[in-house]
This record gives sequence, structure tokens and C-alpha cells, in this order.
Amino acid sequence: MEWIRVLDADALSSGERQVVSVKDHKILLLEHENTIYAMLNTCPHMGVSLKNGRVTEEDDIVCPFHHSVFDLETGAVKAWAPWPPVLGKLLGAVRPESPLHVYPTKTESGGIWIGLGKDDAV
Ligand code: FES
Repeated sequence: MEWIRVLDADALSSGERQVVSVKDHKILLLEHENTIYAMLNTCPHMGVSLKNGRVTEEDDIVCPFHHSVFDLETGAVKAWAPWPPVLGKLLGAVRPESPLHVYPTKTESGGIWIGLGKDDAV
């Protein structure tokens, strides 16, 4: 795994978010309850930014568009385009359900790092 330093260690205080560019891709980093999560800043449904997505008490992120829900840790889909009612079902069928791409993080040597595997989308 290749580790890339993306931010200073103190760049994200409680609840903060930042989007960084790594090898031409936008990665969303956010702090939630003392953990830093990193994910592709692209909803797998229709590609919109997740930067303003709501983070839940269950450690999920909710896409601001059609409210797909993804596990912050694993990227697993917990709901796929459930909104708006009725129309959301049709919109959900536009693309097959697929997980959010997430990255491991660590805070070390004064920085926040994300880990890229050889199969990562960056
Ligand atoms: S674009 Fe995110 S749920 Fe549709």
C-alpha cells in the first residue's frame, strides 16, 4: 500500500471536512467522533459531490441528492437512492447499486495520510 500525506494533522477539527486532490481525483476527508474517514468525493449513484452529505450517528454518510446511505468505514450501501419517494426507485435503477470507494487513513508525523492500494480508483 502506498501512503500519501494529504493534510496537516491539525487540519480537521471536530466535524470538519475537506476535499483534496490526489492523482486527479477528489478525496473527501472528514472528522467524525475522533475518527478521520476518507472517501472518493463522488456518489456512486450519479457522481455528485458528497461534501455536504449528512453524517449520521450510525457512522454513515447520506448523499445530499437522492439520499443514498453509505457506511463511512467500509463504503457499503445501506440505502440506494430512496429519495424522492417513488421517483427515487426509478432513479436508483439508473445505475446498479455499488459501494462508495473508501480509503484507510492514519495520522502520523504531523500529517493525515490516506492509503492507496493497487486497485484503488486514483
Ligand atoms: S447522486 Fe447520490 S444518491 Fe443519487
